[in-house]
Amino acid sequence: MHIIKEGICIFHKPQKKGLFYNPRGIISRELGIAILRTESKEKGNISLAECMAGVGFRTIRYYKEAGVRNIAANEGNIEAIEFLKENLKLNEIPENEIKITNMDAKKFLLESAINGNRFDVIDLDSFGSPSEYIFSAVLALKIDGLVYFTSTDGFTLCGLKKEASIRNYGVHTINSKFCHELGARVVISQFMKCAGNLSMHFEPVITLYDGYAWRIALRLKKGVENANFDKFGYVVYNSKTKEYKLYNENYIDTSGLICGPVYLGNIHDKEYVKKLLEVSKDLTNVRKVLEKIINEEDIPLYYNYQEICDIISISPPPRKKIINKLRKLGYIASESHFSPYSIKTNASYEEFIKVLKSIKPSNNMI
Ligand SMILES: C[S@@+](CC[C@H](N)C(=O)[O-])C[C@H]1O[C@@H](n2cnc3c(N)ncnc32)[C@H](O)[C@@H]1O
Repeated sequence: MHIIKEGICIFHKPQKKGLFYNPRGIISRELGIAILRTESKEKGNISLAECMAGVGFRTIRYYKEAGVRNIAANEGNIEAIEFLKENLKLNEIPENEIKITNMDAKKFLLESAINGNRFDVIDLDSFGSPSEYIFSAVLALKIDGLVYFTSTDGFTLCGLKKEASIRNYGVHTINSKFCHELGARVVISQFMKCAGNLSMHFEPVITLYDGYAWRIALRLKKGVENANFDKFGYVVYNSKTKEYKLYNENYIDTSGLICGPVYLGNIHDKEYVKKLLEVSKDLTNVRKVLEKIINEEDIPLYYNYQEICDIISISPPPRKKIINKLRKLGYIASESHFSPYSIKTNASYEEFIKVLKSIKPSNNMI
């Protein structure tokens, strides 16, 4: 049997169809470890529900590398559970250290909620969209607890499946170069709306796109007063000029495609991201992304400067130069981890174009 090493843990490589192992999930597993270390530091002995444990990559890393001892690991596929148990043995973790169940994730969460066993952290690592699990996750989460979810629902969140978008998120999404951030906001909005339906609300902790999937953590808060529902608004996007406009209130704008109402507030808690960096010295994959996130301005969306340069027929200046020029002029400006060609700024579209044109091509090589 093939053995895979991740962090300080070792695993049998699943060879059978239907058993899941994704090497690209490493950033997500490391972010999970950093989150659990931080939560444990602040709250002590925390409880964790892993709703879709697969063959145990997260379970075992969370146990050994985050030191979590109160883990309920659920998985819908019985064959995966047999494999998970083999992996526990391989890592010398006694089987009775983990509460293992084999049921649908919604049933697992709802049963826990009904029995009064709410969790400090819920890890929701579904295929595709997490939307069908949101209500049960909210009900099974403690107030001030944290849901850490994955979405690989790229086609829908990036505006390519209109009906699924209405069904899962209740909005039309937009296909654009900023779709990875807007997609994150669309799925965050759905979590916020479901919590709101249950008279609670979510506050974003960290929002990460790793080039393959969204990995997002939200904290559940009591009540709906002082919540962030006033941060919902509309994005209007002109697919010809690539200009976007944001509206916090009802709008009268027919200049483009509309997405909304969608959450337009902060998507990271920067103080928390600093804490994640403090506990992730050994987690080299996620650390690189966390360092980018800490430096990105937490304002909605970004321009893809290459595509705008194409439209105005100039060759793209280096990203750093554009950002420096914007800052010199007094605007907020930064890169974004969502895309290597992104610039976040509060400069208007017209001002942004002026800046692009003002950087002389001869200087571009410097
Ligand atoms: C993306 S994989 C999770 C992998 C694992 N968390 C990891 O990091 O390696 C999704 C897992 O969810 C399981 N699954 C799918 N639908 C489920 C459901 N409704 N309830 C419980 N498990 C489910 C699949 O069998 C699969 O193992």
